[in-house]
Amino acid sequence: FGKTLHWFDTVESTQNLARAAAEEGAEEGTLFIAEQQVSGRGRMGRGWVSPRGKGVWMSMVLRPSVPIHFAPQLTLLTAVALCRSLKRLTSLPIGIKWPNDLLIDGKKISGILLESAAEDERLRYVIAGIGISVNLEQLDYPAELLDKATSLRISSGTKWDREDVIADFLKEWEQLYFLYQEQGFGLIITLWEALSVSLGKSVRLVTPQGEMVGVPIGLDDSGAIRIKLADGTIKPVFSAEMGEPL
Ligand code: BTN
Repeated sequence: FGKTLHWFDTVESTQNLARAAAEEGAEEGTLFIAEQQVSGRGRMGRGWVSPRGKGVWMSMVLRPSVPIHFAPQLTLLTAVALCRSLKRLTSLPIGIKWPNDLLIDGKKISGILLESAAEDERLRYVIAGIGISVNLEQLDYPAELLDKATSLRISSGTKWDREDVIADFLKEWEQLYFLYQEQGFGLIITLWEALSVSLGKSVRLVTPQGEMVGVPIGLDDSGAIRIKLADGTIKPVFSAEMGEPL
C-alpha cells in the first residue's frame, strides 16, 4: 500500500480524487493524501473538518474480490487497524464506537468513510477514506463540535508526526487485510469487539427503517451489529446512527 502515493496541497475531498482514479483503473493500494480539504466529507452527508497540515486526510483505492455485502466488513477492519495503530503509537485510551468512529473519552478523533462501486453483485472498487485529527487545536473546531471532537494533540498535550501516523497505520492495515483475505472475518470480529466501547450498554439507534432502543451485544459474520431488543429478540443492524448510552 502506498506504492503509488499522490500528495496534494488543497483539494475538495481526497475521496473524489481516489474515486476518479479508481474509475480510470488505478490499482489497489493507490493513496491520495491532502494537506487540506475544503469540502471534506463525513458519513451521513455531514462535512469533515480538515484544516491545513493538521491531520491525516487520506483515501485509498481497494479492489477486494468479495461480494458487495462484504463492504461493512472492510469498514470494521479499517477501524480495527486504525485503533490498534494509534493506541500503539500514542498510548492514548482509544476505543471504537460502532461502526467505525474512534473515540477518546467519548470524543471523536478519527472517522472512516467507505464508498464503493459494484457490478454484478461484486465490489468493483472501494474507496476507504480516513480522517485522523492529529494536531488540531481547539480553535480549529466550530464551537458546536468542541464537546464531540478532539485530536491526538488536544488529548495528549503533544504534537505528533503525521508521517509516522500514516506509516504505522498502513503497516497495520496491510497485515490485517492480508489476514482477512486469507482467513476470513472471524479475527476482525474478535479484535473489533475487544476494542469496542459500544457493547453492553442500552442505546437508541436511528436506522433507515426507523428508531429502536436495544443493547449492542456483538458483531455477526457479515459485519452487522447484533442488537438485543427489550423483548429478547436479536436484530442485526447494518447501518444506523447510534446515540449515547441511555
Ligand atoms: C465520518 O466519521 O463521518 C467519516 C469521516 C471521513 C473523513 C475522511 S478525510 C479523507 C477522506 N476525504 C473525505 O472527504 N472524507 C474522508
